[in-house]
Amino acid sequence: RTVEQRARSLAGKHVLVTAGPTHEPIDPVRYIANRSSGRQGFAIAQALAERGARVTLVAGPVTLPTPAAVDRVDVETAREMADAVAAALPADAAVMVAAVADWRVEATADQKLKKGTMQPALALVPNPDILATLGASPDRPRLLIGFAAETENVLGHAAAKRTAKHADWIVANDVSGDVMGGDANTVHLVTALGVEQWERLPKATVAARLADRIADALL
Ligand code: CTP
Ligand code: CA
Repeated sequence: RTVEQRARSLAGKHVLVTAGPTHEPIDPVRYIANRSSGRQGFAIAQALAERGARVTLVAGPVTLPTPAAVDRVDVETAREMADAVAAALPADAAVMVAAVADWRVEATADQKLKKGTMQPALALVPNPDILATLGASPDRPRLLIGFAAETENVLGHAAAKRTAKHADWIVANDVSGDVMGGDANTVHLVTALGVEQWERLPKATVAARLADRIADALL
């Protein structure tokens, strides 16, 4: 191994990753959710494990294989994801890639709603913000990284989220194009020092770059 590879080892470090959507039930067969394939988050978990980290991957409902040597915890709802994240602490770093549903249905129906008998008026209540909770927690990982999926004013919204959620870095994700479910991603790294513009890259390359940056930061 080269000197650079040794320097970039994450051996002995525990890194927590959230990925995928959450599903918030309406009734036993219907749910509300954000669009998310989980692929970017799974690629990040894989890249971290390849650098020797112990990785806990808290995954919402996705159809992806578990990367080698990654501890995967499957959840469905945002509240289950929040509980799984809390249970996985302490961690040296956390990368919150999940597209968490911002609201859940206040009263889920025990039986399937039948169309035609009613127009369901769904009362929604806010879900916990898992990243912001972690940012304000005494168990906050030393390096806390969020994602921001934006369709406009990408860098402005990302910078605001970095401060509001007490994150060290925000990976600003421009989802105005055809990112969802695809192979490539356009992201920029927003830190306290400013913005690093990254070119459009395969999701595996975004993951590798981010994992290298995490290894450097945890040295
Ligand atoms: N996040 C979270 N828990 C939530 C909502 C978001 O942990 N309930 C995390 C995401 O995993 C991501 C970051 O917060 O790392 C930003 O998520 P995003 O949806 O872009 O921002 P929101 O704060 O939810 O604002 P909005 O959706 O209105 O843009
Ligand atoms: Ca959101």
